Amino acid sequence: MIGEQVYRLEEIESTNEYAKSILSDAVNGTVVYAESQSAGKGRFGKVWYSPRGGLYISVILKTKKPELIPIMAGIGICETLNRYDILTGIKWPNDIMLNNKKIAGVLTEIIDDKIILGIGLNLNIVDFPEELKEQASSVLLETKKHLDQITVFQGLCSELNRFYNLLESARITELLLMWYHYTIMLGKNVVIELPDKSMQGRVIDIDQDGALILMLPGGKIERAVAGNCRIIK
Ligand code: BTN
Repeated sequence: MIGEQVYRLEEIESTNEYAKSILSDAVNGTVVYAESQSAGKGRFGKVWYSPRGGLYISVILKTKKPELIPIMAGIGICETLNRYDILTGIKWPNDIMLNNKKIAGVLTEIIDDKIILGIGLNLNIVDFPEELKEQASSVLLETKKHLDQITVFQGLCSELNRFYNLLESARITELLLMWYHYTIMLGKNVVIELPDKSMQGRVIDIDQDGALILMLPGGKIERAVAGNCRIIK
Protein backbone atom coordinates (compact mmCIF):
# COMPACT_ATOMS: atom_id res chain seq x y z
CA MET A 1 0.00 0.00 0.00
CA ILE A 2 1.38 3.39 -0.98
CA GLY A 3 2.52 5.39 2.04
CA GLU A 4 2.37 2.58 4.60
CA GLN A 5 6.16 2.78 4.84
CA VAL A 6 7.51 6.35 4.69
CA TYR A 7 11.09 7.61 4.95
CA ARG A 8 10.69 11.22 5.99
CA LEU A 9 13.83 13.28 5.57
CA GLU A 10 14.96 16.90 5.83
CA GLU A 11 17.06 18.09 2.92
CA ILE A 12 18.49 15.39 0.66
CA GLU A 13 19.86 15.55 -2.87
CA SER A 14 16.97 13.82 -4.58
CA THR A 15 14.23 11.54 -3.32
CA ASN A 16 14.54 9.46 -6.52
CA GLU A 17 18.24 8.90 -5.79
CA TYR A 18 17.51 8.05 -2.16
CA ALA A 19 14.81 5.61 -3.31
CA LYS A 20 17.41 3.88 -5.48
CA SER A 21 19.65 3.38 -2.44
CA ILE A 22 16.92 1.51 -0.51
CA LEU A 23 15.36 -0.20 -3.51
CA SER A 24 16.36 -3.78 -2.80
CA ASP A 25 14.89 -3.82 0.73
CA ALA A 26 11.86 -1.61 0.17
CA VAL A 27 8.36 -3.04 0.28
CA ASN A 28 6.00 -2.17 -2.54
CA GLY A 29 4.54 1.31 -2.04
CA THR A 30 7.41 2.64 0.11
CA VAL A 31 7.61 6.44 -0.06
CA VAL A 32 10.63 8.70 0.34
CA TYR A 33 9.54 12.19 1.42
CA ALA A 34 11.88 15.18 1.65
CA GLU A 35 11.32 18.69 2.98
CA SER A 36 13.65 20.03 0.30
CA GLN A 37 16.13 18.73 -2.27
CA SER A 38 19.58 20.09 -3.09
CA ALA A 39 19.73 18.35 -6.47
CA GLY A 40 16.12 17.62 -7.44
CA LYS A 41 15.94 15.99 -10.86
CA GLY A 42 13.50 16.94 -13.60
CA ARG A 43 12.87 15.35 -16.98
CA PHE A 44 15.50 15.63 -19.74
CA GLY A 45 18.30 16.08 -17.20
CA LYS A 46 16.86 19.37 -15.94
CA VAL A 47 17.06 20.51 -12.33
CA TRP A 48 13.82 20.51 -10.32
CA TYR A 49 13.63 23.63 -8.15
CA SER A 50 13.06 22.14 -4.69
CA PRO A 51 13.02 24.65 -1.81
CA ARG A 52 11.08 24.09 1.43
CA GLY A 53 7.38 24.60 0.88
CA GLY A 54 7.15 22.10 -1.97
CA LEU A 55 6.22 18.45 -1.73
CA TYR A 56 8.93 16.04 -2.95
CA ILE A 57 8.25 12.35 -2.92
CA SER A 58 9.37 9.15 -4.62
CA VAL A 59 7.26 6.02 -4.51
CA ILE A 60 8.76 2.58 -5.10
CA LEU A 61 6.35 0.40 -7.05
CA LYS A 62 6.07 -2.85 -8.87
CA THR A 63 3.81 -2.67 -11.87
CA LYS A 64 2.67 -4.58 -14.91
CA LYS A 65 2.11 -1.29 -16.76
CA PRO A 66 5.09 1.06 -16.23
CA GLU A 67 4.09 3.19 -19.23
CA LEU A 68 0.84 4.17 -17.46
CA ILE A 69 2.41 5.12 -14.12
CA PRO A 70 2.88 8.80 -15.14
CA ILE A 71 -0.76 8.91 -16.25
CA MET A 72 -2.04 7.45 -12.99
CA ALA A 73 0.21 9.80 -11.01
CA GLY A 74 -1.07 12.85 -12.88
CA ILE A 75 -4.66 11.85 -12.17
CA GLY A 76 -3.78 11.23 -8.50
CA ILE A 77 -2.28 14.73 -8.18
CA CYS A 78 -5.31 16.40 -9.82
CA GLU A 79 -7.77 14.47 -7.64
CA THR A 80 -5.80 15.38 -4.50
CA LEU A 81 -5.97 19.09 -5.31
CA ASN A 82 -9.60 18.77 -6.36
CA ARG A 83 -10.37 17.97 -2.70
CA TYR A 84 -9.51 21.63 -2.02
CA ASP A 85 -11.48 22.89 -5.04
CA ILE A 86 -8.23 23.53 -6.89
CA LEU A 87 -8.86 22.65 -10.52
CA THR A 88 -5.75 21.55 -12.33
CA GLY A 89 -5.17 20.08 -15.78
CA ILE A 90 -2.86 17.40 -17.17
CA LYS A 91 -0.50 18.38 -19.95
CA TRP A 92 0.84 15.22 -21.59
CA PRO A 93 2.84 13.37 -20.61
CA ASN A 94 3.01 14.39 -16.99
CA ASP A 95 2.88 18.09 -16.22
CA ILE A 96 0.17 19.38 -13.92
CA MET A 97 -1.01 22.84 -14.86
CA LEU A 98 -2.85 25.53 -12.94
CA ASN A 99 -3.74 28.83 -14.65
CA ASN A 100 -1.49 27.82 -17.57
CA LYS A 101 1.54 27.37 -15.32
CA LYS A 102 3.23 24.17 -14.26
CA ILE A 103 2.72 23.41 -10.59
CA ALA A 104 3.76 19.75 -10.51
CA GLY A 105 5.87 17.28 -12.45
CA VAL A 106 6.44 13.55 -12.53
CA LEU A 107 9.71 11.72 -13.18
CA THR A 108 9.64 7.94 -13.45
CA GLU A 109 12.73 5.75 -13.52
CA ILE A 110 12.66 2.01 -14.13
CA ILE A 111 15.21 -0.11 -12.31
CA ASP A 112 15.05 -3.88 -12.80
CA ASP A 113 11.50 -4.92 -11.96
CA LYS A 114 10.64 -1.76 -10.02
CA ILE A 115 9.66 1.76 -10.91
CA ILE A 116 10.52 4.88 -8.96
CA LEU A 117 7.73 7.40 -9.26
CA GLY A 118 9.03 10.85 -8.38
CA ILE A 119 6.55 13.66 -7.83
CA GLY A 120 7.34 17.31 -7.23
CA LEU A 121 4.36 19.44 -6.24
CA ASN A 122 4.87 23.18 -5.82
CA LEU A 123 2.56 23.73 -2.89
CA ASN A 124 3.63 26.64 -0.71
CA ILE A 125 6.56 28.01 -2.68
CA VAL A 126 6.50 31.80 -2.51
CA ASP A 127 9.00 32.71 -5.20
CA PHE A 128 10.70 31.20 -8.24
CA PRO A 129 13.99 32.02 -9.95
CA GLU A 130 13.57 34.56 -12.77
CA GLU A 131 14.12 31.96 -15.50
CA LEU A 132 11.23 29.78 -14.21
CA LYS A 133 8.69 32.49 -13.44
CA GLU A 134 7.05 32.47 -16.84
CA GLN A 135 6.25 28.74 -16.88
CA ALA A 136 6.22 27.63 -13.23
CA SER A 137 4.15 28.53 -10.22
CA SER A 138 2.80 27.13 -6.98
CA VAL A 139 -0.61 26.38 -5.51
CA LEU A 140 -0.07 29.19 -3.00
CA LEU A 141 0.84 31.79 -5.63
CA GLU A 142 -2.04 30.82 -7.93
CA THR A 143 -4.82 30.35 -5.38
CA LYS A 144 -3.62 32.17 -2.21
CA LYS A 145 -4.41 28.91 -0.38
CA HIS A 146 -1.80 27.65 2.05
CA LEU A 147 -2.35 23.89 2.30
CA ASP A 148 -0.88 21.80 5.06
CA GLN A 149 1.87 19.71 3.48
CA ILE A 150 1.36 16.60 5.55
CA THR A 151 -2.40 16.58 4.98
CA VAL A 152 -1.85 16.98 1.23
CA PHE A 153 0.79 14.25 1.33
CA GLN A 154 -1.63 11.85 3.04
CA GLY A 155 -4.35 12.71 0.54
CA LEU A 156 -1.92 12.19 -2.33
CA CYS A 157 -0.92 8.75 -1.03
CA SER A 158 -4.54 7.70 -0.82
CA GLU A 159 -5.35 8.97 -4.33
CA LEU A 160 -2.23 7.31 -5.75
CA ASN A 161 -3.31 4.10 -4.09
CA ARG A 162 -6.74 4.35 -5.65
CA PHE A 163 -5.43 4.76 -9.18
CA TYR A 164 -2.53 2.33 -8.76
CA ASN A 165 -5.10 -0.30 -7.76
CA LEU A 166 -7.15 0.47 -10.88
CA LEU A 167 -4.01 0.07 -12.97
CA GLU A 168 -2.93 -3.18 -11.41
CA SER A 169 -6.40 -4.67 -11.74
CA ALA A 170 -6.30 -3.79 -15.46
CA ARG A 171 -9.17 -1.29 -15.21
CA ILE A 172 -7.45 0.89 -17.78
CA THR A 173 -10.63 2.31 -19.31
CA GLU A 174 -11.67 3.74 -15.94
CA LEU A 175 -8.24 5.28 -15.56
CA LEU A 176 -8.36 6.82 -19.01
CA LEU A 177 -11.81 8.25 -18.32
CA MET A 178 -10.24 10.18 -15.46
CA TRP A 179 -7.48 11.34 -17.80
CA TYR A 180 -10.08 12.62 -20.29
CA HIS A 181 -11.67 14.52 -17.44
CA TYR A 182 -8.46 16.28 -16.44
CA THR A 183 -6.50 16.64 -19.65
CA ILE A 184 -5.98 19.96 -21.38
CA MET A 185 -4.68 18.22 -24.51
CA LEU A 186 -7.69 17.07 -26.53
CA GLY A 187 -8.15 19.05 -29.74
CA LYS A 188 -4.96 21.05 -29.22
CA ASN A 189 -2.30 21.51 -31.87
CA VAL A 190 1.02 20.37 -30.50
CA VAL A 191 4.64 19.84 -31.39
CA ILE A 192 6.26 16.75 -29.93
CA GLU A 193 10.02 17.14 -29.82
CA LEU A 194 12.23 14.07 -29.78
CA PRO A 195 16.06 14.08 -29.90
CA ASP A 196 16.11 13.17 -33.60
CA LYS A 197 12.82 14.55 -34.96
CA SER A 198 9.73 16.54 -34.17
CA MET A 199 6.12 15.92 -35.04
CA GLN A 200 3.27 18.40 -35.31
CA GLY A 201 -0.39 17.53 -35.21
CA ARG A 202 -3.74 17.79 -33.45
CA VAL A 203 -4.34 15.66 -30.37
CA ILE A 204 -7.28 13.35 -30.91
CA ASP A 205 -6.87 10.71 -28.20
CA ILE A 206 -4.66 8.75 -25.83
CA ASP A 207 -4.28 4.99 -26.17
CA GLN A 208 -4.23 2.14 -23.66
CA ASP A 209 -0.43 2.45 -23.39
CA GLY A 210 -0.53 6.16 -22.57
CA ALA A 211 0.63 7.24 -26.05
CA LEU A 212 -0.80 10.44 -27.44
CA ILE A 213 -2.67 9.99 -30.73
CA LEU A 214 -2.12 12.82 -33.19
CA MET A 215 -3.68 13.67 -36.51
CA LEU A 216 -0.97 15.17 -38.70
CA PRO A 217 -1.81 18.00 -41.14
CA GLY A 218 -2.19 15.53 -44.05
CA GLY A 219 -4.65 13.40 -42.07
CA LYS A 220 -2.17 10.67 -41.14
CA ILE A 221 -2.53 9.28 -37.60
CA GLU A 222 0.63 8.99 -35.47
CA ARG A 223 1.37 7.85 -31.93
CA ALA A 224 3.68 9.81 -29.65
CA VAL A 225 5.09 7.67 -26.87
CA ALA A 226 7.59 10.15 -25.44
CA GLY A 227 9.10 13.55 -25.97
CA ASN A 228 8.72 17.15 -24.98
CA CYS A 229 5.28 18.48 -25.85
CA ARG A 230 4.56 22.11 -26.78
CA ILE A 231 0.99 23.27 -27.21
CA ILE A 232 0.81 25.73 -30.11
CA LYS A 233 -2.93 26.51 -30.09
C1 BTN B 1 9.57 17.20 -14.46
O1 BTN B 1 10.59 17.61 -15.03
O2 BTN B 1 8.47 17.65 -14.75
C2 BTN B 1 9.66 16.13 -13.42
C3 BTN B 1 9.95 16.68 -12.06
C4 BTN B 1 10.03 15.62 -10.97
C5 BTN B 1 10.51 16.18 -9.67
C6 BTN B 1 10.41 15.20 -8.56
S1 BTN B 1 10.66 15.94 -6.98
C7 BTN B 1 10.69 14.37 -6.24
C8 BTN B 1 11.46 13.45 -7.16
N1 BTN B 1 12.88 13.52 -6.87
C9 BTN B 1 13.56 14.09 -7.86
O3 BTN B 1 14.79 14.31 -7.86
N2 BTN B 1 12.73 14.41 -8.87
C10 BTN B 1 11.37 14.02 -8.58
